[in-house]
Amino acid sequence: MKSLIDIVDLSIQELQLLIETAKDISQNPAKYHHMCDTKTLATLFFEPSTRTRMSFEAAMFELGGNVISMSSAGSSSAAKGESVADTAKIVSCYADIIAMRHPKDGSAYVAASNASVPFINGGDGGHCHPTQTLADLLTIDREKGRLHDLTIGLCGDLKYGRTVHSLISAMCRYENIRFVLISPEELKVPDYVIRVLQNSGIPYSETADLEGALPQLDILYMTRIQKERFADADEYERLKNSYVLNTEKMKLAKADMAVLHPLPRVNEISVAVDADPRAAYFRQALNGKYMRMALILKLLSDAGKLQLPATVPLAKGAKGADEKQLKLIPGRYVCANPRCITTTEQELPQIFFEAEEDGQTVCRCLYCEEKVER
Ligand code: CP
Repeated sequence: MKSLIDIVDLSIQELQLLIETAKDISQNPAKYHHMCDTKTLATLFFEPSTRTRMSFEAAMFELGGNVISMSSAGSSSAAKGESVADTAKIVSCYADIIAMRHPKDGSAYVAASNASVPFINGGDGGHCHPTQTLADLLTIDREKGRLHDLTIGLCGDLKYGRTVHSLISAMCRYENIRFVLISPEELKVPDYVIRVLQNSGIPYSETADLEGALPQLDILYMTRIQKERFADADEYERLKNSYVLNTEKMKLAKADMAVLHPLPRVNEISVAVDADPRAAYFRQALNGKYMRMALILKLLSDAGKLQLPATVPLAKGAKGADEKQLKLIPGRYVCANPRCITTTEQELPQIFFEAEEDGQTVCRCLYCEEKVER
């Protein structure tokens, strides 16, 4: 595997290997201190980040490697109009591996296609955030002791929450998973994510009622209402206080429910909840560093630059890997998603793929996966 754009780029076996490697790193850090000596990670962050950028950088330092960093769009030649494609080509000359965050949906696909070194998506607009999902999976595994037989509540901004989209794609591949999607009407999960649930045959329900959902949950995954993704400021003001998890509401939850949050939080989890042993979100942020260490090792190993230990057996409760089988359609349509990378990247070809949904053939943008009206 050369790059990680979407969590489904990783098979279940590969996810299991990353989880086992991350656990070993957390228990035996000294074993890994020189594995990336002489290797360089470039972090390209066109959008703000604390955890993703800093945990990637800490990960590479703890593996003995070097880091070169671009911490904002304004500090690079993107400010002069340089494309994502050109940036990826150029940075490939200076680094062995690249991690990038960008505000446009589908930007990760463009960068990965143009990089000549392994590429990692650190979040592309409201589309995907696969390395957050790696942190989430390790956290679920550690908190619950399993990745199967779980009822997972996802609460908050399920429309723009890229961490939610990636987590659904990942958990659909384990046995006996059930989702409760908790959001205001305006922030429901987009249809391409619902399609993932339906294609996997995963039971799910949609509700606006957090208190009503809480007693049945094994995991509650809270998310921030993402101000920066709203086109309409009034709509954000109306929705920003939709959910606040507090100690009173925690009384409705199972004694062993784990509360996850990709962070940053604004006000959706009261600070008083932090003292509850079920609050796993700070442990989740630490798990993100271990999983990013494991991912860097895997991608450099797959590129022939490192040697990793042998693979581990398939985890109990895993359904196996899905392969993306895409029938590509170049050029005939124009993606109408205003947040898609095709709206800003000069000369980027419009490419679509066909998918069977509800007995009909539909067409979606290859970069951002939004449906195209034909
Ligand atoms: N969870 C997450 O992506 O955090 P940052 O935006 O701080 O990287």
